[in-house]
Amino acid sequence: MYSERFKASLEAVEKNREQNTGFEPQRMSAEQKEEILKKYHPDHREDKFATLKVGKNKDDKVPTELCDMLSAHSRIAGRSIDLDNPDYDVDVLIIGGGGAGASAAIEADNAGASVLVVTKLRMGDANTMMAEGGIQAADKPNDSPAIHFIDAYGGGHFAAKRELLSKLVCDAPDAVKWLSDLGVEFDKAPDGTMITTHGGGTSRKRMHAAKDYSGAEIMRTLRDEVYNRGITVVDFTSAIELILDENGAAAGAVLLNMETKELLVARAKTVILATGGAGRMHYQGFPTSNHYGATADGLVLGYRAGAKLLYADTLQYHPTGAAFPEQIYGALVTEKVRSLGAKLVNAKGEVFVHPLETRDVCAASIIRECGERNNGVDTGNGLGVWLDTPMIEKIGGAGTIEKRIPAMMRMFAKYGIDIRVEPILVYPTLHYQNGGLDITADCMTGVENLFAAGEVVGGIHGRNRLMGNSLLDIIVFGRSAGKNAAEKSRSVKTGKLTLDHVKKFEGELDAAGIETQLVSPKLLPDYNRKGKIL
Ligand code: FUM
Repeated sequence: MYSERFKASLEAVEKNREQNTGFEPQRMSAEQKEEILKKYHPDHREDKFATLKVGKNKDDKVPTELCDMLSAHSRIAGRSIDLDNPDYDVDVLIIGGGGAGASAAIEADNAGASVLVVTKLRMGDANTMMAEGGIQAADKPNDSPAIHFIDAYGGGHFAAKRELLSKLVCDAPDAVKWLSDLGVEFDKAPDGTMITTHGGGTSRKRMHAAKDYSGAEIMRTLRDEVYNRGITVVDFTSAIELILDENGAAAGAVLLNMETKELLVARAKTVILATGGAGRMHYQGFPTSNHYGATADGLVLGYRAGAKLLYADTLQYHPTGAAFPEQIYGALVTEKVRSLGAKLVNAKGEVFVHPLETRDVCAASIIRECGERNNGVDTGNGLGVWLDTPMIEKIGGAGTIEKRIPAMMRMFAKYGIDIRVEPILVYPTLHYQNGGLDITADCMTGVENLFAAGEVVGGIHGRNRLMGNSLLDIIVFGRSAGKNAAEKSRSVKTGKLTLDHVKKFEGELDAAGIETQLVSPKLLPDYNRKGKIL
């Protein structure tokens, strides 16, 4: 149900729908893609980045907001913490309760380790839960991990660490089977085979989904498994600093009870960072599809402890965040909508880009359409383009939307928009951090006994990730981190606990002449309208 404001543009979209549905837009050449990315993708806005003056990535360019957090004071600076009487003492400490953390916990438990999961909000409050479209795995006869590799390597601009991407694609079929065996209800054909679809940049249909709440279904299953095993989970508890031992190996974390503000100490033989992404940093003022706690905490904790970052200057702006109504501004409109046939259409009713170009290219095309080309729709709260969802029913038949993307249908129906008969308005939204902690194929960061898995890691996907490879990486690398950390914990002899690295880092800030009031990690976004630092 759209107001008068949209009438003329809507009429143009409706008038052209028949013709646009059958129209096959041209794919861009490599040169065209490079050009559009350089001109319009937010990663190329030099003025929105700053140079790090401290830490392992000194002199590297990162988003300004992240630079501030990586150059801020520790939350425990100047506080005395009793490290000799820890509140928890375990083999494996997992920081983060999303898909990677849960997968790690299950495998570490399988390996016989004592496990503690700490999570800032509740178990499952994570980007995994928000994921919609699906998980890639080359498990059909016309596909192979090698083809999956080629798609993802090209889509990521040939920048992925090859050993990480190779592990991702080779372990994918087993990851999907593992999830299915645990109880994930993937979409299946009547004969029991998995239904698979395309995503942007895929040459084979390998996206496995549970309608358009794939992440919620996966997280539900993993969380149940963690709880059923009796693994210790401490909710509403953030890690605010890693603890090292006297030999410089990770040996636990200082925890903050988010409700009481009490500080606690967890000692552990090995630590896994699985803190997820950074959408709530709202880089460049973008809205986000991310959950409330996605504030780059793991990057800060790892960086201060001496870990290195890879590609922290590259973010993913999902092309189709909801642009209208205002109440859901930035919420994810799954790429599956385009896989099922909806096209991107400008204010004049023209298709302006192939709907399954890779995400960075699609996002840049929308930004160009709304900016330089002046073909965006004024939503009253910014600009957007149409995603012509009724095309899906034309292509797949009546009932396709309700069957395949019911969450999308419900999200817009709440605001009186029936996506079966009306198009929706979209604009890019901050969705994913392509960069993060640099790891080896066995999930080790450069800090002894410190592992990492999930969105906190950089380099798996290069400089752009394909749809469905993130739900995949949290499972593949989450499981691997859990197994490896448990295995390693058997031989670890933890030395005396220290927080000397925090003092050292404060010294580096001084030496670099950094004067700041900021403390990090951020923990939660600040939506205080007066802009006061909480
Ligand atoms: O569009 C989507 O459903 C998002 C998927 C992903 O980021 O992998």
